[in-house]
Order: sequence, then structure tokens, then C-alpha cells
Amino acid sequence: MSKVEQAKKVKVATLSDLTVGVGKRVKVAGEEIALFKLKSGKISAIENSCPHKAGPLSEGIVSGDHVFCPLHDWKICMTDGQVQAPDVGCVKKYEVEVVEDTIYILID
Ligand code: FES
Repeated sequence: MSKVEQAKKVKVATLSDLTVGVGKRVKVAGEEIALFKLKSGKISAIENSCPHKAGPLSEGIVSGDHVFCPLHDWKICMTDGQVQAPDVGCVKKYEVEVVEDTIYILID
């Protein structure tokens, strides 16, 4: 069975629930996820916990495709989940599917 067939598709929001540059916290299968609408219109979903000391990334400041953790300002790329230098680490990224106005997260 492919990964997509095994994944569960969960409705988490609609496009109109999101504002560019403002994160939204959602919970799927016990996991907290930070949802963002990027300037490009793309939807990004990352773990809502900074790899440094678990800062809530959904409350971070957004700049382009990056979010700055609200606690100590680590810069995290929302397209690949990588922490930017000089800090190191990464957050889990979630697959997102948008069907018309509805946003789904695919979760294992
Ligand atoms: S908890 Fe995110 S930078 Fe410290």
C-alpha cells in the first residue's frame, strides 16, 4: 500500500479561515499543527513546536516563507521545515491538500 493510501485525510480549515502571515493552530490525531497561508497562496503545515524549547510556531512572526519562533526568534523555513543557520534542527512537515476551499492534512 502506498504512503498516500495509508494516510488519513483530515479536514482542518477552509482557505477563508487563514490570513497571509498569520498562523493558525489546529489539532489532528493528537498532534498540534501550525497552519500558514504563504504569500504565494500555498498552504504550509508544520509541527506547532519549535525544536529549541517548544515555542508555539503558530504565534510566530511570518516573513516570506519563514516563521520566526515567538520565544527566541529561531528562523524556520515553512516549505521544508528546516531551522536556518546559525541555529540547527527541523520541524515535522505535513502533507496538505486543498480541494476547492477546504484544506486537508494527510496524516499517517
Ligand atoms: S523555543 Fe523557539 S527559538 Fe527558543
